Amino acid sequence: MKHLQLNNKWVLVTGASSGLGQEMARQLAHLHKANLIIAARRADNLNQLKAELEKYAGIQVKVIVADLSIPEEADRVIAESIAGNNLYAAILNAGVTYFGRHTELAWDNFESILKTNVIGVVRMTNSLVKYFDEPGTEGGLMLVSSMAGFFPVPYQAAYSATKAFITAFGNALHNELTNPAFSITVFAPGGIATEMTDNSKFNELKGWLMPVSVAAKEGIHALITRKYSYVPGLLNRIGNVFMNFLPSKFIGGKMSKVYLKSLTKAQQ
Ligand SMILES: NC(=O)c1ccc[n+]([C@@H]2O[C@H](COP(=O)([O-])OP(=O)(O)OC[C@H]3O[C@@H](n4cnc5c(N)ncnc54)[C@H](OP(=O)(O)O)[C@@H]3O)[C@@H](O)[C@H]2O)c1
Repeated sequence: MKHLQLNNKWVLVTGASSGLGQEMARQLAHLHKANLIIAARRADNLNQLKAELEKYAGIQVKVIVADLSIPEEADRVIAESIAGNNLYAAILNAGVTYFGRHTELAWDNFESILKTNVIGVVRMTNSLVKYFDEPGTEGGLMLVSSMAGFFPVPYQAAYSATKAFITAFGNALHNELTNPAFSITVFAPGGIATEMTDNSKFNELKGWLMPVSVAAKEGIHALITRKYSYVPGLLNRIGNVFMNFLPSKFIGGKMSKVYLKSLTKAQQ
C-alpha cells in the first residue's frame, strides 16, 4: 500500500489545543508541510497555534472550536473538514481520562469520558469512512487509543474501557474497508508527558512517561506508513508483546499496586 504523502494536503487533528494533538500538529506543519484543520474546545490555544504555524511553518490552518462530546458538534467538525473534498487524513486524538477509584467517579464525569472518547470518535469515524472509503479517494484515518486499551487498568477503569473500545473498533473497521487507498490506524501509546498526566496523582508514574515529541513523531510515522496498530517506543512494544503471555489478572494486580501507591502519595 502506498504511503501517505502529506505535503500540501489537508489533515484534521482533533484535540490540538494541548499535548499530543498540539505536538502532532506542529510536526505535521514543520516537518511534513501539511495544511491543518485543528479542533478542540479552547479557542485561544487553537488560534495561538494557527498564528504560530502559519507564520513559522508557512502552511494554512483552519480552526474549528467544538465540544466533541456533543454528537452535533462532532458532525459539524467533519462536515466543515470534508467540505470541498480535499481532506486527505484525519487524526482523532481528543480524549479525557480520570485517575482514581472508579466508585469516586461522578456519573456526569463518566458520561463525559464516554461521550468524548467513544461516542464522538465513532460519530466522526462514521462520516470519515463514508468520505474516504470510495474508489479513487486516497487518505488515512488514525484513532488515538492507548496501551490502556490492551489490558484493564485499575484506577483508570472507565478510561481503559473506552480505549479498549477504540482499539477493537478501529482494528475491526480496518478490515471492512473496500478502498485500497484508504487505511485506518490505531495508535496506542503508553504514558506520555502531557496535560493529561501533569497531575500530582501521576507523580510516581512520571518515570514511565514518554516525551510528547517522541510520541507525536511515532504517531505521524504510523499514520503515514498506514500501520494497522502501533505502539510508540521500543520498550513499550517489547513490554506489550511480553504482557500478551501473562494473565490479565496478574498484570492488573501488579498495576493496581503501583497506581494505588501513586494515588495515595498524591493525597498525603
Ligand atoms: N498522556 C498520556 O499518557 C496518554 C497515553 C496514551 C494515550 N493518550 C491519548 O492521547 C490523546 C491526547 O491526550 P494528551 O495526553 O495529549 O492529553 P491533553 O494534553 O489533555 O489533550 C487532550 C486534548 O483533547 C481535547 N479534548 C478533550 N475533551 C474534548 C472535547 N469534549 N471536545 C474537544 N476536544 C476535547 C483537549 O482540548 P480542549 O480541552 O481544548 O477541548 C486537548 O486538546 C487522548 O486520546 C489520550 O487518551 C494519552
